[in-house]
Amino acid sequence: MRYKRAVPADMDARVHKYWPQRYDLFSRFDEGVWMNTELWFSVTPESMAIFLSKFIKCCLPDAKNALDLFSGGGGNTIQFAKLFDKCVGIDINEENIECAAHNAEVYDVANKCEFINLDWKVFSKDKKALQEFKEQHKIDFAFASPPWGGPGYKNLESFDLSQLQPLPLKKLLKSMFKITENVILFLPRNSDLEQLSQVTKKLLGKQAMARVIHLKLDGRPKGICCFWGDAFMTDHMRDLANVDLQSDAGPEQEDGNEDVDEENKDIDYDGLDY
Ligand SMILES: C[S@@+](CC[C@H](N)C(=O)[O-])C[C@H]1O[C@@H](n2cnc3c(N)ncnc32)[C@H](O)[C@@H]1O
Repeated sequence: MRYKRAVPADMDARVHKYWPQRYDLFSRFDEGVWMNTELWFSVTPESMAIFLSKFIKCCLPDAKNALDLFSGGGGNTIQFAKLFDKCVGIDINEENIECAAHNAEVYDVANKCEFINLDWKVFSKDKKALQEFKEQHKIDFAFASPPWGGPGYKNLESFDLSQLQPLPLKKLLKSMFKITENVILFLPRNSDLEQLSQVTKKLLGKQAMARVIHLKLDGRPKGICCFWGDAFMTDHMRDLANVDLQSDAGPEQEDGNEDVDEENKDIDYDGLDY
């Protein structure tokens, strides 16, 4: 059976084009997922969030507590909560927090999620607050999918990571290393990898490297995932071969979505160190 549901009347016209992709974002969309205009173009597609959570689990099998720094609609938080004991989601936008908390209920992981409404740019300047956060939550890894400034990033030849919002790459990483040595960032596919390498060496020493995985969904590049921390430097690609990377099967989608081939949804990845 194919679902042919019209775009809801109250959906912002600027994001109508994302409506056919709703099950890519949340396979349980019809069970009452909450979205808002920003979330339509910023939620991590579910199959990618599942892949990342499983990849991190392969690298850090004993990890218990996750931090999802810019938790948005909960796309990543939910998948971390599924595989780890607890995930703390942080977001500046109260409405996004409400959506994420509700979506965690839809996915039956609300009891493993804690959402905190704060501005990381302000909070991360407070050394004492960071230290208290570290002691209270005992985070094993910190993930961040910062805002990329809307879909316009695609038109840039190279995404300047010193312009990353809400903090430039160096400051963002520095703040996250104060919480844990295991840090993961989801960044635009056209990110300046030379900058990434330089910042890594400045913060962690001349020999330090970041592992970068180029993620594709249905053959289309979606972004890069960058990993810092010894646990991520071992080759876990073989472990992943034993893990089912498909998302939960959602209902079939209607036609007319040029970007998605529902019959052939799959994640590809290539790894390199910088
Ligand atoms: C790309 S979205 C994250 C999407 C999320 N990973 C998901 O799958 O739903 C980026 C989020 O960062 C939040 N954000 C932006 N600036 C922030 C700040 N200074 N402190 C905390 N959150 C911030 C935004 O409100 C937005 O929800």
